[in-house]
Amino acid sequence: MKKKELLGLQHATKEEIVRILSTAEDMYGILKQNVKRTPYLAGKNVVNLFYENSTRTRTSFEGAAKALGASVTNISASASSVKKGESLIDTGLTLDSLFADIIVLRHPMGGAPVLLSQNVRASVINGGDGFNEHPTQGLLDMLTMKREFGDFRGLKVVISGDITHSRVARSNIWGLSKMGADIVLSAPYSFIPPEAERMPNVTVEPNLDAAVVGANVVMGLRIQLERASGGLFSDGEEYNTYWGITEERMKLADKDAIVMHPGPINRGIEINSDIADCEQSRITNQVSYGVAVRMAVMYLITRGDE
Ligand code: CP
Repeated sequence: MKKKELLGLQHATKEEIVRILSTAEDMYGILKQNVKRTPYLAGKNVVNLFYENSTRTRTSFEGAAKALGASVTNISASASSVKKGESLIDTGLTLDSLFADIIVLRHPMGGAPVLLSQNVRASVINGGDGFNEHPTQGLLDMLTMKREFGDFRGLKVVISGDITHSRVARSNIWGLSKMGADIVLSAPYSFIPPEAERMPNVTVEPNLDAAVVGANVVMGLRIQLERASGGLFSDGEEYNTYWGITEERMKLADKDAIVMHPGPINRGIEINSDIADCEQSRITNQVSYGVAVRMAVMYLITRGDE
């Protein structure tokens, strides 16, 4: 990594992505051992600074940091001095003074990790910023595909759901396109961002039945029910009829296709339970690979030059 941080995949090089995924494979080997620990980050302080709720990302970064021997502090903005009006930069400077080596930031505003990175000494990792990027989710999704198919070239990846508001979709598009995969976005037009067809290796096919034909990966995204009042979404049952990932639809995909979802999932809306829990589903594997990817990113940020 040129700079000791991970703010997104848009500006990451193919070589950097390859290196992270290959290091993550090694880290996954450590996690499969009886003793899931290695001292690569012993003596380092990792701070999870979360301005939004999270189950997977926060816990995964914590598990990854502990597996590498680091000390971890979790800060939830709602229970911190942010509630008293402290700015992101002042919070970052405070964490610098408390000897943070890595700050993992989740924030509702796109670009917040860049702002923090410009103002602190610690390395910053983007744990999801607004609608912009969620790079470690993109990388763990790519690791899931790599472990399944070996190569990304020519892989047909269908992404379905609320793509407009999805930082996961954007990180996947930036990362997968660099690796040579073909990405098909399928959703109602209100969920397709206007810039979609200008993004690399991306086509738009609003009809999910047509989109899924021959797909190797079908990735559902959460329908953000909290935005339903904005008129982007009418009703879960209707959505499921046209855009739900169902057993019938998966029959149109390649016979070895896998189903993915970053979570949290809305069962019966963007994905049906029989598919979320079926043999083709890699949803729980994604979570496990996430720990390995976050170990790899923190290792490369702190010790990558060695
Ligand atoms: N996939 C994901 O980012 O989940 P969390 O919001 O639970 O971290």
